[in-house]
Amino acid sequence: MRVLQLGLFLALASGFAAISIYITGLSDPFVYPSYHLTDEDTQALLSLHDTFQKCVTANGLGLKATRGTDYCQTTISFPSDTIPKWRDPKTGELEALSFDFNLCEAVATWEQVRNSTTILTKEFIDSLPNGWEEYAWRRINKGIQLNHCENKTLCMEKLSLVLPETPPYFPSQFRRCAVIGNSGDLLKTKFGNEIDGYEVVIRENGAPTQNYTDYVGRKSTFRLLNRGSAKALDKVVELDEQRKEVLIIKTTVHDIMNKMIREVPIKNPVYLMLGASFGSAAKGTGLKALEFALSMCDSVDMYGFTVDPGYKEWTRYFSESRQGHTPLHGRAYYQMMECLGLIKIHSPMRADLNRVVKWVPSHHIIRAARIASEKLLRRVGAGSEDPLAACSIIKKQVKRNLNAVSKLRKAALDHLRLCCWEASNPMIYKIIRLFTFSKLCH
Ligand SMILES: *[C@@H]1O[C@H](CO)[C@@H](O)[C@H](O)[C@H]1NC(C)=O
Ligand SMILES: *[C@@H]1O[C@H](CO)[C@@H](O)[C@H](O)[C@H]1NC(C)=O
Ligand SMILES: *[C@@H]1O[C@H](CO)[C@@H](O)[C@H](O)[C@H]1NC(C)=O
Repeated sequence: MRVLQLGLFLALASGFAAISIYITGLSDPFVYPSYHLTDEDTQALLSLHDTFQKCVTANGLGLKATRGTDYCQTTISFPSDTIPKWRDPKTGELEALSFDFNLCEAVATWEQVRNSTTILTKEFIDSLPNGWEEYAWRRINKGIQLNHCENKTLCMEKLSLVLPETPPYFPSQFRRCAVIGNSGDLLKTKFGNEIDGYEVVIRENGAPTQNYTDYVGRKSTFRLLNRGSAKALDKVVELDEQRKEVLIIKTTVHDIMNKMIREVPIKNPVYLMLGASFGSAAKGTGLKALEFALSMCDSVDMYGFTVDPGYKEWTRYFSESRQGHTPLHGRAYYQMMECLGLIKIHSPMRADLNRVVKWVPSHHIIRAARIASEKLLRRVGAGSEDPLAACSIIKKQVKRNLNAVSKLRKAALDHLRLCCWEASNPMIYKIIRLFTFSKLCH
């Protein structure tokens, strides 16, 4: 055992030679030496708004976008005859018919997601300043009792079954991915074959495929789990006959889960998600699943989210009712994502696989607007309006043996080279990975 551990240590020590970390806030003066927006910057943001508005009108089934008072804000509105059906359980208020979004923040943050890893790794915790004391316990159920991982061995033990050393997935690793929500709408259109045609299919919580394959397909590559589903891991694995699905847990690791993984035993890979923060717009499993997909897929298509007018937000395709939340807000946010070129929406009213999303801003516009946004956010970030202001972006350099990633497809390697690698010798690449994360933001 000792020998094995030593061997492992040596392998790690040589494989991951130097790890250096630096943390930068959004206000890192070295990244953008000037606060000043050039004419091109403002032009880029105006072009983005212009095309974005046309896109929302052309594809939003009644939604409308208008530019707010600054270069960033957009307001997405529903037609005035829309009848909101969801009430805030705390205030009893009906949901609003228009929502403000910050396009600058959206283009900048989603770009980071596309260049980041969204699986929690040991390497990540180790590289945070006080990662075990300040962060790791938050990913363990009842972690507060662990006294900031006073006993690090105990914390490591609790996380060990779900904590890979290094990221198992990379940006652009997959070509075409589909994220399948659980909306009752799915039973209106036979999307099954179409869904099975994707390279990767991501499902959520307890969604079955058996008995519904005409509508939802059979393929299942990943499954994103909320707290409730994660506690019933033994039931969840039965949903996939192949027992190959990779299970991604949004919340925390739980003793019950560890016991099941060991004793059932559960052979599927199980990981914890490491996500970015998108503020209140984006709490649900749906958005997390899209985030996860965008961190590893070239294109992301979305099915089974209630995104058509006349929504029925409280039905699932496989069970009667559920507790819905902010369906109109969600619908507006997904439309924003589609009109930023991040995803393509499929729904009963948009059932043509080859539907062209009209007026999506070009890569050129998005890129220019992102550069302008990064400058602006840095200024805005000093204020309190920006939910990302309190967050840090961690840039981490890891020297990594090329063998670890050499089986990736070319597009993924190219992406890594451009975004994150500096070759130092032919076999060792320095990977600079960006992380944004929510748990440490406040
Ligand atoms: C820390 O946790 C480990 C693993 O559960 C346990 O064996 C050890 O006794 C603990 N150490 C202390 C000082 O409590
Ligand atoms: C599929 O239908 C059969 C027969 O009605 C039933 O026994 C089974 O539980 C169903 N499976 C799921 C996942 O609902
Ligand atoms: C993300 O990666 C691309 C290369 O694929 C690079 O051009 C871009 O600058 C990166 N963006 C960020 C925010 O690091």
